[in-house]
Amino acid sequence: MALDRETRDQFLDTVRRFVRDKLVPIEAEVSETDAVPERIVGEMRQLGLFGLSIPVEYGGLGLSKEDEVLVCFELGQTSPAFRSVIGTNVGIGSQGIVMFGREEQKREWLPKLASGEAIASFCLTEPGAGSDAASLKTTAIRQGDSYIVNGTKRYITNANKASVFTLMARTNPENKGAGGISAFVVPAKLPGISVGKPEKKMGQQGAHICDVIFEDARIPASCLLGTEEGQGFRHSMQVLDRGRLHIAAVCTGVAERLIRECVRYAQERTQFGSRIGDFQLIQAMLADSRTEAFAARAMILEAARARDGGQPISMEAACCKYFASEMVGRVADRAVQIFGGAGYVADYGIERFYRDVRIFRLYEGTSQIQQIVIARALLKGEG
Ligand code: CAA
Repeated sequence: MALDRETRDQFLDTVRRFVRDKLVPIEAEVSETDAVPERIVGEMRQLGLFGLSIPVEYGGLGLSKEDEVLVCFELGQTSPAFRSVIGTNVGIGSQGIVMFGREEQKREWLPKLASGEAIASFCLTEPGAGSDAASLKTTAIRQGDSYIVNGTKRYITNANKASVFTLMARTNPENKGAGGISAFVVPAKLPGISVGKPEKKMGQQGAHICDVIFEDARIPASCLLGTEEGQGFRHSMQVLDRGRLHIAAVCTGVAERLIRECVRYAQERTQFGSRIGDFQLIQAMLADSRTEAFAARAMILEAARARDGGQPISMEAACCKYFASEMVGRVADRAVQIFGGAGYVADYGIERFYRDVRIFRLYEGTSQIQQIVIARALLKGEG
């Protein structure tokens, strides 16, 4: 459901002020401590940020995709680790339940996810199954009223805080492809499920990824997402289609923030007796960054509106994720260039953004996977 214009603008303004007044001032602290303070998480709960995409009847804000990407443009204007706190509840962790869950699964989990009382993680990737997600090896074998789950999931965002996992596992080991995979909604605290230590990462300190290990974990058969085995891969692809627009919007927000930082610096810094912003080679970098961020914003809004209008947007979401994640990489690189030596020094924060944005070209599907999705759609005559 779309918000009316006035409510939407008020909400966006509240998020904008929260980002500017509460998040931006503690970016360096979060990076150094590798933790988002609990008081900030509490404020995110109060603002309703955990429930952006969860329908109103289950306690969320029930935003349209267009409204959600507008919020992401705002949330992107600070360290992406903050967005990650709410990211899995808004996106890949919850949307399987929203789109394909049975009524009792929705009632059990969505209100807690919307309020932020529970955190959801999305367990697809494995040590041997990254881009080739359909080759996953984790098994869920039916035994009476349960499934016995064995396998390891890797790089799972927010797993160390999760109360529930959306798990993709092979229920039919005879079928080695996508059709053998089912999705489950699994309480995190069941015996046989453990979570590894958070990985040390290149960037986005404050956001955590961990292994999730299933060792003869017995999960009730009622945890099957939806009613049918064998749908897990298709469900996860649809969840990712939606998630890719969200990530693209965050990339665009980060790019816009970096452009503002570059403009400010270009107006302050003098060399050769002039502000560096007076030099046309600096101006060219500013103009290229602005043009690309504008293009990303426009394409994301168009794809989000198409999705709200009920159109399939798998290819368009891939185009947006591909373009926006590559774009913010170029913008961050130019930002380092414009800041010069200061761009390489931690105090200015630019090098931190440079590291933070690198993951956007990898997670929720690498750039190469987006290219494949786009090209396949074109060749099937869908593009
Ligand atoms: N919507 C609906 N159905 C879809 C679909 C979509 N977007 N994409 C594929 N399918 C269906 C196909 O129609 C096909 O169905 P049938 O068997 O009925 O024909 C089935 O799924 C298999 O599809 P493909 O043959 O296209 O499968 P593939 O093995 O060739 O893989 C792929 C396709 C696009 C490469 C896919 O594997 C992919 O997207 N890989 C990347 C995975 C990814 O994004 N991982 C990120 C994990 S999340 C994350 O990053 C963690 C985190 O915590 C942030």
